[in-house]
Amino acid sequence: MTLPTVLEFSKELLNRSIHAGDIAIDATAGKGNDTLFLANCVGEAGKVYSFDVQKQAIDQTKQLLCDHQLDHRVTLLQQGHEQANNLIPSDERGRLKAVVFNLGYLPGGNKDITTQTNTTIQAITDFLDMLPNGGLVAVIVYHGHEEGKKEKDALEMFANTLPQQNVQVLRYEFVNQVNRPPFLLTFEKR
Ligand SMILES: C[S@@+](CC[C@H](N)C(=O)[O-])C[C@H]1O[C@@H](n2cnc3c(N)ncnc32)[C@H](O)[C@@H]1O
Repeated sequence: MTLPTVLEFSKELLNRSIHAGDIAIDATAGKGNDTLFLANCVGEAGKVYSFDVQKQAIDQTKQLLCDHQLDHRVTLLQQGHEQANNLIPSDERGRLKAVVFNLGYLPGGNKDITTQTNTTIQAITDFLDMLPNGGLVAVIVYHGHEEGKKEKDALEMFANTLPQQNVQVLRYEFVNQVNRPPFLLTFEKR
């Protein structure tokens, strides 16, 4: 067999936890690949919220969804994910099953607009509060760039200090690859 890549493994876990009619969140829309994946997972009765601070990312995501005729399943928000607590309606939170982050900057975009340690941890904390037990937050950590290194260190500390009776944290990582490859942290609310 071939081991799944970090992205494949994150999708495998998300796919297991999301069912038709659920709500899912893409915390970093970027080019829209994860949003499209989530829109397929939630089915016709489900819903996806997708966040990005950049208009370019929101526009690209919208285009990708329209190309696949799935834009009606997704609410696109040009807002930071740290605003989610104010934007996700409280009466929908019981149907929320999973959140995905692909940290870092928009591929091919402005490398100075990147996810930031404080807002990333704030948002993960808020999503863990919002999710029902069994809900997942999957975070793909890219630490090959300067801000990414800080984010990685802070996330490791954050993950290590979460009480295991409230949250289980799984790390999936290839340990002997060159060039600091991304790894996955998955937080499961208990
Ligand atoms: C690595 S890209 C995401 C790739 C995306 N998942 C895809 O499938 O193409 C990271 C994105 O996070 C966005 N971002 C940075 N800070 C953010 C924040 N506070 N809230 C939401 N998105 C943010 C960037 O604009 C960028 O588009």
